[in-house]
Amino acid sequence: MNICVVGTGYVGLVTGTCLAEIGHCVICVDNDKQKIQTLNTGKMPIFEPDLEKLVHQNRKRGNLSFSEDLGQGARKSEVIFICVGTPPLENGEADLSPVEKVTREIAVAADSYKLVVEKSTVPVQTGEYIYRTLQIYCREENGRFDVASNPEFLREGSAVADFFHPDRIVIGVNNRQTEAILHQIYQPILERGFSCPVHSSCSSFPKPYFLVTDIKSAELIKHASNSFLAAKISFINAIAEICEKVGADVQKVAEGMGLDPRIGKEFLKAGLGFGGFCFPKDLQAFVRIAEKVGYDFTLMKEVERINKARIDVAVEKLRKKLWVLREKTIAFLGLAFKPQTDDLRFAPAIGLIRRLRQEGCNIRAFDPQAMEKAVIEIPEIFYGANPYEVAAGAEALVLATEWPEFLDLDWLKMHRAMARPFILDGRNFLNRPLLMEVGFEYEGMGR
Ligand code: UDX
Repeated sequence: MNICVVGTGYVGLVTGTCLAEIGHCVICVDNDKQKIQTLNTGKMPIFEPDLEKLVHQNRKRGNLSFSEDLGQGARKSEVIFICVGTPPLENGEADLSPVEKVTREIAVAADSYKLVVEKSTVPVQTGEYIYRTLQIYCREENGRFDVASNPEFLREGSAVADFFHPDRIVIGVNNRQTEAILHQIYQPILERGFSCPVHSSCSSFPKPYFLVTDIKSAELIKHASNSFLAAKISFINAIAEICEKVGADVQKVAEGMGLDPRIGKEFLKAGLGFGGFCFPKDLQAFVRIAEKVGYDFTLMKEVERINKARIDVAVEKLRKKLWVLREKTIAFLGLAFKPQTDDLRFAPAIGLIRRLRQEGCNIRAFDPQAMEKAVIEIPEIFYGANPYEVAAGAEALVLATEWPEFLDLDWLKMHRAMARPFILDGRNFLNRPLLMEVGFEYEGMGR
């Protein structure tokens, strides 16, 4: 099928590339000239495991291309996925102006039937606005439009693998024809009719569930899912606070809770809290949506408050240990909001570094992937070429992102490099007994 994907951010680039990989002919469009140039020269604007390989492969095969021309992309395609950003406005609402603009452009450009699919995370009822806008701006001789919602659940760092092996594919439609088109697009995934480019054997993955709903319910599924997961994280972080007060271990509490299949062990890791471009902004947007329709979502406001307070908790732990923070040198391992990505948006590490800078600390930092972006975000700190270099002379080391390679460091060498061997393990990730044996003072989050 001929498909146009509008927006080449994390969602659009992964979606477009993976749709090409399962056999569709995809044009990815973006109004960011530089991004399109980068992609057309074979370079990647983001780091995402396996993505670069698939982009190269599919460009070579001729079923993936990049363009600035939305009109042409839309005319050539029967299905258009809207994957543009919905950044937060100052009041927490999602900024829908990019979605609205793209919709108008599609309406004007379309010369035959188009199915417009919203994949960006949008407030409930956006589908209705998209449909209305298409009707208003389309030229009379144009064909008709359908609108569908197809929320994405891709996680950064494993987005490509998630695309090929989703738990569920949710579509919100209002007629059978739209359902049939979307089913056809995803058929290779639903029936595993493709050779997986990520795993050599995929037999352990169950077939995904194909859930068909009305458009508004599909829109809500996305916001409700992300908010629920964020709530789980804040819940365990609140438990972590209680654990510290009574001398219990949140890791053990989470383990015990997670053994109940109704709770499940995922998303019960206490630490510096959640970051990234999805949870923080979706949560705020969901609170605003609820407010607009007349519901005061205090539960979610509290989830957000608990998450923000994780940074205060970390600052206070450092203050308690170091007595005075002013002029102390603090080393950071990890900057990205989670491992396997170079994404720094709403990263707890960045929030914590900013706070410590305000306190007068000197910061030395290392991240395996995110340094290029970090230099632009926080130019005033020292970036080391490796963990040993950032540890040199530090009076505390903060583990902010659980990159697996940090487990294999030569901790004796790290210990010797530091002025004071204190570790704040912001993700309860490091091998505490080993570190203590080496001679570190170790502090976790909630244990
Ligand atoms: C999330 C959703 O998981 C995905 O389905 C949706 O499409 C986009 O938003 P992502 O933002 O990539 O994906 O990251 P995720 O793996 O969900 O982690 C989000 C944040 O929560 C990270 O900062 C992570 O460190 C933190 N987290 C996660 C915890 O603090 N504790 C946990 O137990 C799990």
